[in-house]
Parts: sequence; C-alpha cells; structure tokens
Amino acid sequence: MTKHPLLNEVQDGSRLKNVSEEFGTPLYTYFGEQIRNNLDRIDTALRANFKKYQIYYAVKSNNNPNLLAFMHQHLPTLGADCSSPGELLAAERASIPFTNCVYTGNYESMDDLQCAVDSGCEINLDDETSFTRLKNICIPEYISFRLNPGVGKGRFAEIVTGGREAKFGIPVENIAAVYKSALTDGVKTFGLQCHSGSAILDQKHFRENTQLILKTARHIEDIINHRLLKISIGSGFGIPYVDDEDPLNFNDVFDLVAEVFKEFYGQHQHDWPILCIEPGRALVGDAAILLAQVTGIKDSYKTFIGLDAGMETLMRPALYGAVHRIYKVGAVTEKQNITVDVTGRICENTDRLAVDIPFPDVVEGDLIAIMDTGAYGYSMAHQFNTRPRPAEVLVDKGAPRLIRSRETIEDIFRNCDN
Ligand code: LLP
Repeated sequence: MTKHPLLNEVQDGSRLKNVSEEFGTPLYTYFGEQIRNNLDRIDTALRANFKKYQIYYAVKSNNNPNLLAFMHQHLPTLGADCSSPGELLAAERASIPFTNCVYTGNYESMDDLQCAVDSGCEINLDDETSFTRLKNICIPEYISFRLNPGVGKGRFAEIVTGGREAKFGIPVENIAAVYKSALTDGVKTFGLQCHSGSAILDQKHFRENTQLILKTARHIEDIINHRLLKISIGSGFGIPYVDDEDPLNFNDVFDLVAEVFKEFYGQHQHDWPILCIEPGRALVGDAAILLAQVTGIKDSYKTFIGLDAGMETLMRPALYGAVHRIYKVGAVTEKQNITVDVTGRICENTDRLAVDIPFPDVVEGDLIAIMDTGAYGYSMAHQFNTRPRPAEVLVDKGAPRLIRSRETIEDIFRNCDN
C-alpha cells in the first residue's frame, strides 16, 4: 500500500481551495510535477532496458493540447498515439511532429484514413478491410497491423480489448496472411501492434502479453521473410485507484519485457526491433484531482451527497462501476461518520461517483476532491442534461494556469441556428 502522491494536497487543501475560488467548480486540476514524475519513471525504466524504444502518449486518455505540450517539452522524444483526426490535431497543436505519431483507428472511414495519410504519421490498421480501403488512397512504405491475440485482460470487462468478444485487431490465426498480402501490394517495411486491455497492475501480464506478441511476430516474419522493425505492446499500464493497491514498478515491468525480447531475439540489442508503448493512464491518470462542491445533502433511504460534478463530468463510475477515492478537502483524517452515495445533478439513476462509502460530515459548499481523474476524465465528459463541460487548470511552478476554460451554455448551442 502506497500513499497517494497527491494526498498531501488534499489534506493541506490550500492550493485546491485557491484554484477552486479562482476558476470555479467542477474543475479538473492537474499537477505538473506528478506528470513529470510519471514520464521520468517510464522513460528511465525503458532506457535501462532498451536501446531502441518509442513512447507514444495515448491522446484518448486526455486530449488537452496544453498538457500534451507540457509533456512533450519535458520529454521531447515523446510521440503520440492518435485514434481520430481530432487526436491528430491535438498532437499537432502540441507541436509533436507527426513523424513521431501513430494512427490506430478501428472501422476507419475513408476520411479518417485520408487525414492520417495526409498528416504523414505512421498507420496501424485494425483489420485487413482497413487496408483494402487505405489502398484507394495510397500504399504506404511502412505499416503495422493490430493483433488480437485471442485473449485480453483489463480492470473491467468493458476495457478488455483482446479476445473473442473484442471488436479490435486481427485474429492471431489470420494475421500473417494479411502481412503477406500487404507485402504483395508493395508495402516495404512492417511493424506489429497489440493492445489487449487497460488498467492492469499485474506485472506478469506484461511479460505474458509480450510473449504472445513476439510469438506472432516470429510467425509473421517467417511467412513474409522480412524482419519487423517495430513491436508495440500497446499499453494497459494501470494505476492504483484504491488504497490497498501498489503502483507498477516500471523497472520490473520493462525488465520482464526485455527478458522476452532476449528470448526471441538474443542478447544483442542491435538485432531487436524498436519497442513501442502507448501509455495514457500511467502518464496522466494519478496527476489530476477533480474538484467539486457539495450542492445538496439528502437523507433518504440512503444518504446522498450531491455535487456540482456528476456522470457528465466523470463517466467512469457510471460506465464501469469504477472506483475513485473521494475526500473532503482538508479533512482526509477526519472521522468518517456516515455512509453515503456521492452523486451529481443528472436525471439518471446511474449518476453516481461513489456508492456506499464512509464519509466525514459535510455541509453545502464544502470542497470535494475526486482522485485519479487525469485519464479518461475530461476526455469522456459530455453535456447530458445540457450541462457545460468543466474547466481544466494546470498547477505547476508559478501561478496555476487555466488550460481549458469552462464551457458555457451558449457553447452547447453554438451549432444550432436557433
Ligand atoms: N493504445 C491503444 C490502441 C488503446 O486503445 C488504448 C486505450 C491505449 C493505448 C491506452 O491505454 P491505457 O494506457 O490507458 O491503458 N475509458 C477506459 C479506458 C479505455 C482504453 C481504451 N484504449 C477507462 O476509463 O478506463
């Protein structure tokens, strides 16, 4: 069990109170130092084990161009993993060169593919039929395909992206033939990608997953008689969401991954393909606190604490039953007298941020901190019940910086002619 890296911020509360007064609530509050720590931990562990590697930040986890730029300034080698034209634009706005970006879509439209081709980024295709569509635009020099290894893993069934129920990737049985036909069509060089699930804290998974990928890579290489230049093991790097979980030790994780590379390619790293990873959650997840205010308290059959943030602000609990630690700011150690559901103001009974949690006494107006909301928080926020999306602020050296202003109700109707 490890203490949350931002727990002191919540207990002390002064910075959180200041930003909430200055920028209002609900407010996604990012801590630059934690993002830098996450980048450094992953980059250092990779560097210790691999001579050739590339980190592509998964933009879907948080698309704020200011955050991307912040990360890219700290780690200039950082690339971006994009899954839509919008995510490519976020990378461009952050000045991440497209030559360091990869486009991984699924069921891509011709417009999507055209946009990816026009950007000049690498293309990682989800299916053979995607390649058939792409051929109408061009035959790229280099391409990779996404493997569905037949199994997957994830914190919730909903975020498992490998296996027979997954809509992603090419079945392991079929994938070599897809490479063979791409070679025949004129593609010159290849990579292989696989992302089979998210939010995993079991370190052994990364070894087993790499084994599956490299086994398939070897088979593909035998069939096409070409070495694969890049192997992307995707992501899945989890973070603790509850107190009794430990963070991944990335030195151990990439030790394990490197062992598998040695098994398959030998001791000499110049014979190894480039290892690629696509972390999202592990870079930004634990670096943000969603700040909200208590708007109403109700003693009904259960006790409800109502906030000005709900499922429209943070979808994960309603969508997956995801658990996020929630604290009253300044009261981490206060006695937890009551058992409550924490809810928002949405007209939907799934609108819960927490169910049956012990909580200290609160009054209307109290400031509440919802932890680990940097990944898939804002990026999955929406406008149900005509609630504008929140603001985002970056706390780092110097004054807190508003990195996305609060949406207004007018913004919601901007595209309506009435
Ligand atoms: N690469 C690909 C191709 C992906 O599809 C994903 C996530 C990632 C990388 C980044 O994975 P991560 O570092 O976050 O494990 N909305 C869910 C997560 C869905 C992830 C989908 N793909 C959640 O809130 O947990």
